[in-house]
Amino acid sequence: MLRSRLILLTRMRAVDLIRKKRDSGEHTREEIEFLVSGYTRGETPKIPDYQIAAWLMAAWIRGLSLAETTALTEAMLHSGEVLDLSDLPGKKVDKHSTGGVGDKTSLILAPIVAAGGLTVPMISGRGLGHTGGTLDKLESIPGFNVNLSLEQFRHVLRECGMGLIGQTGEIAPADKKIYALRDATGTVESIGLICASIMSKKLAEGIDALVLDVKTGSGAFMKREEDAVRLAEVMVDTGKRMGKKVVALITDMDQPLGRFAGHSVEIIECIEVLSARGPADLRDLSIELSAWMFFLGERSKSVDEGRRLAEEMVSSGKAREKFKRGIRLQGGDERVVDETDRLPKARSRVDVLSESGGYITGTNCEQFGTALATLGGGREKKEDAIDPGVALEFHKRVGDPVKKGEALATIYYNADARLSEARSMIAASYFVAIEQPREKRPLIRRILGA
Ligand code: URA
Repeated sequence: MLRSRLILLTRMRAVDLIRKKRDSGEHTREEIEFLVSGYTRGETPKIPDYQIAAWLMAAWIRGLSLAETTALTEAMLHSGEVLDLSDLPGKKVDKHSTGGVGDKTSLILAPIVAAGGLTVPMISGRGLGHTGGTLDKLESIPGFNVNLSLEQFRHVLRECGMGLIGQTGEIAPADKKIYALRDATGTVESIGLICASIMSKKLAEGIDALVLDVKTGSGAFMKREEDAVRLAEVMVDTGKRMGKKVVALITDMDQPLGRFAGHSVEIIECIEVLSARGPADLRDLSIELSAWMFFLGERSKSVDEGRRLAEEMVSSGKAREKFKRGIRLQGGDERVVDETDRLPKARSRVDVLSESGGYITGTNCEQFGTALATLGGGREKKEDAIDPGVALEFHKRVGDPVKKGEALATIYYNADARLSEARSMIAASYFVAIEQPREKRPLIRRILGA
């Protein structure tokens, strides 16, 4: 059996598979495995960058079927270690967000769900471009270590039920190599490729269930709702084909989530929500995602019950305590939870004023993230260092009235070299009109896979 499989693989040629995809063919599972292992493990025959780059472009243009997407996800998942957390108590549940501006729910729901008795093994990412990253935000807490070995990660999970680390060399190494190539070849924005990339990493965490927060709107990766829905459908389907419970919430990213974007300010905003305060949109979405995690993790019989449990974890202070414990176990200074002044802060501040009066009808949300990165509060290139104190505070939300000369936002900054550029970008990203917008778009647009 093994021998005939080996013969089959050695007879395959990458060039034939590139041609097949170029001509809209559908790959078999073996063909996908051949491409992934030949590229990432250098198994005979070794496939070079240029052939995978050509195949990626063919796949980008022709698309991948659900069967191909599942096969690609599985091949990438098994390119490294798949964690076995069966010795830890409770179901293992995670959440993945496709990212946006001010999106910080991971840091709220991990302690809520862990306090409620489930295990949350989160392998998170860094910010790039206009989106923020969970790991970068955590690193604004003095001493916090996101680079735990898998053994240390297991220890933290055993001790407190939640752990947040970066991708290690052992987890889905194929994704790391293929993603770098996609980034350099204009082949990122493909539903099949995105799905395989995200799901291979998440499923390698050894989880039983996954809640997806697929963002849509001007600050999201998927700007159009129909694209977000399509991506969500493919991810839900792929996860289910692989035996996991998966739901996707399509949520609004037409304006920032919460009141702040930046690194230490977002930690403070999470502490606010965990202390039963904080902005309503951030609180509501965090409770909703936690409720689904409780339900899928079989901790509650319904989403309603999960919602009540999530609220109880916040109001009782249990989630806040869990957050402190998680910080301590990962080497961070837990005192930041009670004394937020211990977090890095920018030295200067300036308001961005409205040039006209009326109502806020919308925002170009992506530009807020770009402006933040311009000031050092994000990365423009992978190797850029982040200034954790740089921040934006948003004073106006869509539908709010605004007077001419009133503050739309406040910039907290340390270096003023690109301040005027950032200021103009933010001012231009608020759309103001005389008429109040009639419809209020819901925060949660749709739920798929329930
Ligand atoms: N995030 C990922 O991890 N992979 C993608 O392909 C896109 C976003």
